[in-house]
Amino acid sequence: MRVPLLDLTRQYRQIAAEIERVLPEVVESQQFVLGPRVEAFEHEVAAYLGVPHAVGCASGTDALLLSLRALDVKPGDEVVTSPFTFFATAGAIHNVGARPVFADIQPDTFNLDPAAADAATGARTRAIVPIHLFGQMADMIAFRAIGDAAGIAVIEDSAQAIGARQKLPDGQWITTGTLGDACALSFFPTKNLGAFGDGGMVVTNDANLADRLRRLRVHGGRQMYHHEEVGYNSRLDALQAAVLAVKLPYLAGWSEARRRNARFYDEGLGGIESLRLPEVRPENDSIVNQYTVRITDGGRDALADFLRKRGVGSGVYYPRPLHLQECFAYLGYSEGDFPESEKASSEVLSLPVYPELTEEELDYVVESVRAFFSA
Ligand SMILES: Cc1ncc(COP(=O)(O)O)c(C=O)c1O
Repeated sequence: MRVPLLDLTRQYRQIAAEIERVLPEVVESQQFVLGPRVEAFEHEVAAYLGVPHAVGCASGTDALLLSLRALDVKPGDEVVTSPFTFFATAGAIHNVGARPVFADIQPDTFNLDPAAADAATGARTRAIVPIHLFGQMADMIAFRAIGDAAGIAVIEDSAQAIGARQKLPDGQWITTGTLGDACALSFFPTKNLGAFGDGGMVVTNDANLADRLRRLRVHGGRQMYHHEEVGYNSRLDALQAAVLAVKLPYLAGWSEARRRNARFYDEGLGGIESLRLPEVRPENDSIVNQYTVRITDGGRDALADFLRKRGVGSGVYYPRPLHLQECFAYLGYSEGDFPESEKASSEVLSLPVYPELTEEELDYVVESVRAFFSA
């Protein structure tokens, strides 16, 4: 049996008829960049998340970059974030001219630790970027409180977590984008809501910020050929919007299927001493973009190799924390600075969890992992 880490062809087969109907319509219209389909999709995402404004752009990376710019993060400013994330989070901070300042993660959720982020916040800090890693929201109440107390922006990196939810102490649910000043989404194909290429979006409660984002994505001008500031060329394509609009009504069901698969693994993989299963805090409803276990006895790479030989795909997200990347040597960090992030990098392994996995395949993954540990 072969169980790849992700197989998008199965999802495509489910929706192929709808996609094949809508794509020729876009081609017939010959309207490819922004336009009514993108606007309609922006409204649909805003409604899905219950956040009033949504601004489509070219990628999740650009959604972060545009958010930072729109919130006035400037060269010389510091932005606090996690070193245990996809590169783009810190890359975007660097690319607006600001300095990434790292703070360590919580070992149970892999998310930025609010207390550590607070301690890393200083006079030059202009924003904090918590990441909702692997589909589980970071502690947004804490980050909102830190942001408010320090008078700095909170930008949610929700590239992996569109529609994940978190329960407030009063029982009310919030979602990605509810509490942040801006929230960046990615439609990279491997995300729960994936396009047929790159795509991204910023959602926000702030109408003025949305307005500025709309300008920044078209070279900083309200009106063609008149530029108030220098922006970017970062728009969402109509073809991508058409694909994403077909997929959006399925998203909640797909995320539920991922949670079901996660429960299957939770039950099947329990009781192995050196295998730590992913933890979702009781207040969180994860969309399970990744099912990420830890191998705590140093055998992570051996397990990945064993699984590969049995036809089971797996992935290491992320093998090297960002404070130890060559390009960030100028920040002056060294090994040992963020022990939880470094430990996570050496222990994590993500298993196939996509919605279309069959019970037989899930069983095979469980059996394969168990076989490794009983060998
Ligand atoms: C946490 C995180 N941030 C940012 C991004 C960047 O998104 P994109 O690939 O759409 O630029 C990604 C996804 O790749 C991500 O996983």
